[in-house]
Amino acid sequence: MKFFERDNERIQILDGPVNVPVLINQLTNQLSTEEPFYVMDIGEIVRKHQNWIEKMPRVVPHYAVKCNDNDVVCATLAALGASFDCASKGEISKILGLGVSPDRIIFANPMKPNSHLRYADANNVKTMTFDSDTELHKIRKISPDAKLVLRIRCEAEKALCPLGKKFGCDPVEEAPRLIKIARSLDLELVGISFHVGSGCADFPIYYKAISYARDLFDYARTCGYEMNLLDVGGGFPGDKGTTIDEVAPIINSALDQFFPDKSIRVISEPGRYYVSAAFTLVTAVQSKRVCLDFQTGSIDRMMYYLNDGVYASFNCILYDHQVPKPMLLGQNNGKVYNSTVWGPTCDALDQLIENIRMPELQIDDWVLFENMGAYTIPVASPFNGFPLPKIYCYINKDTWEMLNDLCPITDGTFCNPSGNELMINYEDVACA
Ligand SMILES: Cc1ncc(COP(=O)(O)O)c(C=O)c1O
Repeated sequence: MKFFERDNERIQILDGPVNVPVLINQLTNQLSTEEPFYVMDIGEIVRKHQNWIEKMPRVVPHYAVKCNDNDVVCATLAALGASFDCASKGEISKILGLGVSPDRIIFANPMKPNSHLRYADANNVKTMTFDSDTELHKIRKISPDAKLVLRIRCEAEKALCPLGKKFGCDPVEEAPRLIKIARSLDLELVGISFHVGSGCADFPIYYKAISYARDLFDYARTCGYEMNLLDVGGGFPGDKGTTIDEVAPIINSALDQFFPDKSIRVISEPGRYYVSAAFTLVTAVQSKRVCLDFQTGSIDRMMYYLNDGVYASFNCILYDHQVPKPMLLGQNNGKVYNSTVWGPTCDALDQLIENIRMPELQIDDWVLFENMGAYTIPVASPFNGFPLPKIYCYINKDTWEMLNDLCPITDGTFCNPSGNELMINYEDVACA
């Protein structure tokens, strides 16, 4: 059994630890400054998974594929025994294509197009969320034996991306009515889910959401349902220097208090947590404008144009409300100016940083951005004809061997048409 057997040339196996700054130094010495690239540390995803299991052993993570659907990410998590949260037919198909069994997938999009629902049903992906009666009627027609998870709304006051405006029913006013409708339609209701908001900065909200779920478990029993699934969603931090050490005890003690019965299966849908820190983006300055103060003739501002922008990796500024923090590679001695940093396209929306004090940069200077693994790659487009960054993947030999042991790979590795990523077939791997 080999992990990524035939693609050693693109997944580099290192004898020692994966030292991202050193690798970036090597790559920037070899590569053209014209195209941006990512350095991906696979070990970071492995460590995140191990840490999750240690800190929240009762909560089975279902990786939110929408966050970063890179094949190496998904295959690594499949090998580790994680499960998956898929939002569409395309995501389900991708994960099933890795050989993951359908019962390790939750179809966690409360709004499901008919054809996606049909696809899920035909492929035995039966666990799915809903938050409206319309969806219940649709599910009854297309997937009558679905295992339904009612998504309630319980939002963090502070989150990068609140989701409650769009998804989740009110736990007190609407949820009981939907439970009754599910009953009247003779559907199987198995649990409650929530998402407190992505990039949550208000961890006690999980306690409140779990307590709402408890009330609804009790209410559902009065309607004849013995629910057995609690899904605590996503919202967990993933950047370098962040941990789940604060949120884990809140969730663990809420579970002990409200769901002491260990036969209740508890799952989660972390996205950002797994991938954010694993990806570092390396860009370079392609062009520059020195803007003068016409009155004094002195330099008012520098404008830099990088080779990646908001239509590609930095869509995370618009979509995920991220604030990119540039790091300069060894060029920190220049005079400092107020600076604006732009992407490469012809659109003025393509602004990465409006105003920052930075040492003067020159054409071909490298600019790095850490924590670029979440909500970047899957949304990126080659708008205006600018190529998307290549991904250079690294893994330490011991981690590689560990994955080889864990991962019953069934068939070889091959490139998908983009030539950038890998496809791997797996046999089923037991849940964590
Ligand atoms: C239903 C659902 N689950 C999980 C996630 C992942 O959230 P996070 O990346 O905050 O963990 C999202 C993000 O939008 C989501 O919509």
